[in-house]
Amino acid sequence: VTDQAFVTLATNDVYCQGALVLGQSLRNHRTSRKLAVLITPEVSSGLRSVLRSVFDEVIEVNVLDSADSVHLALMQRPELGVTFTKLHCWTLTHYSKCVFMDADTLVLCNVDELFDREEFSAAPDSGWPDCFNSGVFVFRPSLKTYNLLLQFAAEHGSFDGGDQGLLNSFFSNWATADIGKHLPFLYNLSSSAVYTYVPAFNHFGRDAKVVHFLGATKPWNYKYNLQTKKVMQDGTIDGSLHQLSFLSLWWNIYSASILPLLEKLQKMEESEPEECKVTDKGVNKVAHSVSELSIHFKPQEPIPEDERKKWEEGRIDYMGKDAFEHIKKKLDAFLH
Ligand code: UDP
Ligand code: GLC
Ligand code: MN
Repeated sequence: VTDQAFVTLATNDVYCQGALVLGQSLRNHRTSRKLAVLITPEVSSGLRSVLRSVFDEVIEVNVLDSADSVHLALMQRPELGVTFTKLHCWTLTHYSKCVFMDADTLVLCNVDELFDREEFSAAPDSGWPDCFNSGVFVFRPSLKTYNLLLQFAAEHGSFDGGDQGLLNSFFSNWATADIGKHLPFLYNLSSSAVYTYVPAFNHFGRDAKVVHFLGATKPWNYKYNLQTKKVMQDGTIDGSLHQLSFLSLWWNIYSASILPLLEKLQKMEESEPEECKVTDKGVNKVAHSVSELSIHFKPQEPIPEDERKKWEEGRIDYMGKDAFEHIKKKLDAFLH
């Protein structure tokens, strides 16, 4: 199917990590639809090329920011003004129907049946179920709708400062008009909400189709032990083992499919002639942002005697001594 697509958004290299895992999870479950990612000028050239290996289309758009610090403060998420950039998804008029998915979502099975739904379909928000959550929704690209949305934003703003407040006011009859436009919660299971209703999760959770890592702490903020394939628990993981198993799933995809792509990028960058590095700012920016990301894994000042402990704690120097190629060499030496 070439006129329908899953669409996501990443305004920076960090959210790209999420977009890549989402894209890979859709591929793993053999979607028959196209994959598109909206990015903004801030995304580095290196991450763009990695995105191109997972997505059919990488589309640059300009940043739309609500700049509404007052409302964003109510959610304690000052960084979410840029989620207005999501509105650009209505401009993808070369598709007749799309499913938007936040970069912090992950599909657990094939969800192509979402395309049987009509605009505007979405699942209830776990915090306010008469609102939909705007992390997963079915829509029809249309410049008319896009312009109406921008006009609406200019006139009324957004009650939460992000796209969700705006979209809920715009598609204001969602709660009552047509139950067919209510996606089951299983298509946008907020991982942090699971522990608020454990019996329901125990009963229905096995049918979950999309998990959404909603909230300020994203999977990429956790530490992961590549050896044990376990997410490090530091007391901040909300409540349950379920949350932990979703996080592990995210990290399994990230380490198996995305890290190798980033390592390849890193290698290509290292083999670039020096002049090229200086002239191509984008390339240098990748090195910066990838190592920035690895702050979560990599201590700034290595203490040699603590190497083993660090490894066991999941503080792994992916780009340096613990790079996959070194690990592989060690394993090969051990096995032969
Ligand atoms: N997003 C982005 N850059 C940002 C913040 C958000 O690209 O700095 C995009 C990304 O697709 C993300 C979505 O906007 O998944 C909504 O933000 P987030 O998922 O952080 O909000 P939450 O679901 O936690 O409320
Ligand atoms: C939400 C949604 C997210 C949206 C944000 C800002 O919690 O999950 O997709 O961007 O609110 O409105
Ligand atoms: Mn989200």
